Amino acid sequence: MNTLIQVKHLSFSYLTRTGSFTALKDLSFEINKTEFVCIIGPSGCGKTTLLNCLAGLLKPTQGEFYLNGQTAVVFQDPLLLPWRNVLTNITYGLEIQKIDPQEIAKRAKKILSTLKLADFAHFYPHQLSGGMKQRVNLGRALICNPDILLLDEPLSHLDPQTREQMQLEILRIFDKEKKTFIFVTHLIEEAIFLADRLIILGKSPGTIREVIKINFKRPRDLTLKHNRKFQNMEKLVNDILTSEGADEENP
Ligand SMILES: Nc1ncnc2c1ncn2[C@@H]1O[C@H](COP(=O)(O)OP(=O)(O)OP(=O)(O)O)[C@@H](O)[C@H]1O
Ligand SMILES: [Mg+2]
Repeated sequence: MNTLIQVKHLSFSYLTRTGSFTALKDLSFEINKTEFVCIIGPSGCGKTTLLNCLAGLLKPTQGEFYLNGQTAVVFQDPLLLPWRNVLTNITYGLEIQKIDPQEIAKRAKKILSTLKLADFAHFYPHQLSGGMKQRVNLGRALICNPDILLLDEPLSHLDPQTREQMQLEILRIFDKEKKTFIFVTHLIEEAIFLADRLIILGKSPGTIREVIKINFKRPRDLTLKHNRKFQNMEKLVNDILTSEGADEENP
């Protein structure tokens, strides 16, 4: 079956001191196997809440979703363990699951090579650049061999050049690993560059404003960003985000 995730009328409310706050209201969408979906929308529209629901960290208040596979989450802050090196930060999750050490070593070798971290396996977090830390963060998720990778603004702390390099890395890993990526970002350009489909959320409460298919062929490289069709797509998404009823904090 091609549909990996099916979300039906999902709503989520946080309990607050004065009652409850509806962060997501009546979201319905599907995500296919090996699809790259970017979720974009203004700050506070419920992107992290949605990802946390899909990861099973929050239980929807209403509605349901069906998810056929294992998920792994890549958070915005790498939060690496400072006393562990690159290799053992990546293997930590499997160690606590008591996976066979030989199997761990085999998977770690593959991940280090995929992420171009083999030469840095014994470096400690304080010796790494921001981009490298984020690659280790990605490695911790990939080593669990999930079907679905949930990424919450993983590149937002990087400088523009490193961010662009990491976008290419993410695309390379996506093309290689044949997994399903759900990637939250604030940047329209980044979303279009990475995704097969955009889910555009609006705010108060968080609802789907529009879903847009992105058809640029893969593999993609940075020249795509200068393509007229790419720039027209950026304008279209920007218009949706800033159109009447959208939030003023839009990117
Ligand atoms: N624990 C909580 N209790 C109450 N309200 C919360 C809680 N966590 C988040 N919210 C509210 O829910 C809404 C959605 O938050 P969420 O973090 O999902 O937004 P977001 O789209 O990820 O924002 P950003 O782009 O800034 O990361 C916001 O209005 C936020 O204030
Ligand atoms: Mg968020």
